Amino acid sequence: MERYDLVIIGSGPGGYVAAIRAAQLHLSVALIEKYPALGGTCLNVGCIPSKALLDSSEKFYDAAKHFSDHGIETEKLTLNWQKMVARKDQVVKQTVGGVEYLMKKNKIAVFHGHGRFVSANEIAVEGGPTLYGRNILIATGSKPSALPTIPIDKKRIITSTEALSLPEVPRRLLIIGGGVIGVEMASIFGRLGTELVIVEFLDRLLPGMDADAAEETRRILTTDYGAKILLGHAAQSVEIGNRGVVVHVAPRAGGESFPIETDYVLVAVGRRPYTEGLDLEKAGLTVDERGRIPVNDHLQTAIPHIFAIGDVIRGPMLAHKASEDGVYVAERLAGRKPHLDYRQIPSVVYIWPEIAGVGYTEEELQKEGRPYRVGKFPYRASGRARAAHDTRGFVKVIADAKTDMLLGMHIVGARAADTIAVGVAGLAYGASAEDIFRLPLAHPTFSEALKEAALSASEGSAIHL
Ligand code: FAD
Ligand code: NAI
Repeated sequence: MERYDLVIIGSGPGGYVAAIRAAQLHLSVALIEKYPALGGTCLNVGCIPSKALLDSSEKFYDAAKHFSDHGIETEKLTLNWQKMVARKDQVVKQTVGGVEYLMKKNKIAVFHGHGRFVSANEIAVEGGPTLYGRNILIATGSKPSALPTIPIDKKRIITSTEALSLPEVPRRLLIIGGGVIGVEMASIFGRLGTELVIVEFLDRLLPGMDADAAEETRRILTTDYGAKILLGHAAQSVEIGNRGVVVHVAPRAGGESFPIETDYVLVAVGRRPYTEGLDLEKAGLTVDERGRIPVNDHLQTAIPHIFAIGDVIRGPMLAHKASEDGVYVAERLAGRKPHLDYRQIPSVVYIWPEIAGVGYTEEELQKEGRPYRVGKFPYRASGRARAAHDTRGFVKVIADAKTDMLLGMHIVGARAADTIAVGVAGLAYGASAEDIFRLPLAHPTFSEALKEAALSASEGSAIHL
């Protein structure tokens, strides 16, 4: 039987990054992936293809709505959806190809086939060998959650996976769930002219993110794309008819349900950890009430030489979190002393303007009863934003009321996905709001607004406001 220091099940951003890091640190590594393509959800049907379509649709929307503001007149703009999807597929192919190359470069043994536990140290690969791992890493990720009364047929009632490769731009789309997937997909199709309805159970979009950012998101989707957003509503059932799909929607608080006719229904109500067919019990493992594999602070399961990371365990279901987990496990196995702090993991929603946040939200601090100060700076007061004609949004810096320690940063604005890196660094290195103000950031940039919001949090006033 082939023996390895580390056998990894799942090649998403958790598994493949762990494999590379472990190999760099001189462990022998095998990686098992059930699909022919490496890269998991993120590379194949998640982060990368969704961002490819977000970027393409943003260009189309910009050309249609904003080019003339810059003195660029276009005569007739046409959309070639098939080409847009083909470009997205090409981006995915290149990215997956990059991971294959990295596996070879780092001498990682890759096995394609479903992996399942035979014992606590042995994994059988379907149609392949059984591998012995001195250590085992479960990185099997997640799948879309479903609603019991709304069966997914993958044609008219779809998940994000099908939405990324639809045969046409829908004339009408109803999205169940106003979370990250719902909002990003609404942006893609809204920009291309689809009539949108979003049905969200809670009284706000983007639960878990800053409430002001969520409200700004609602405004963007309604004003830019004409989306009809039904907060505090639940989809109860669907019927597929000749003229489309009828979705029965009711207020959460009770009351009559009403029908909404649409062409496609996207179910985006969260994702669930994926452990099907792993035969966890053969290794002596179980899952918790939410289907996650329980782990301790070192990401060890109940069996000390079996680890689990990424979407299949607790914590935010994000690619960079999965990769951080993977690096952590690889480095500990190699005798290093890494650390992990999920509070420093940023969340980004790639609509335009972008939404990004890291650290505590005001709502969380209020719940904890921890006194804080807030500084907010609007992009309309930024010279760079005016030059770019992209003045929507704000930066919010949250600092401890007594110590001025940076507790959170939340941004709505152009390039927020990249600008938030300053907030991540600030939290990671224990910066105060004043420290952020004192960073000599380049002028004119979008990131300068962080200094202004930080000064405002620290002392109550900004320079340019
Ligand atoms: P996954 O990426 O799900 O990989 C798990 C892999 O394990 C899969 O390839 C699966 O086939 C394989 N596998 C499972 N069971 C077995 C088995 N028994 N044997 C062999 N192989 C197995 N996150 C971000 O940070 N940024 C984004 O912009 C972003 N956009 C997203 C957009 C969409 C539409 C979706 C759906 C998700 C998005 N995410 C994003 C979330 C991100 O994709 C996940 O958090 C991330 O992929 C989790 O990584 P993972 O390694 O834990 O699992
Ligand atoms: P989500 O948890 O972000 O949002 C799901 C939404 O559906 C919630 O707002 C919830 O209240 C709502 N909901 C649940 N049941 C409902 C019902 N019956 N009727 C109406 N609304 C209902 O999950 P989502 O959007 O599916 O995304 C899954 C995961 O993928 C997220 O955890 C996210 O982190 C990750 N992701 C990350 C992206 C990024 O980083 N940019 C992009 C896309 C996904």
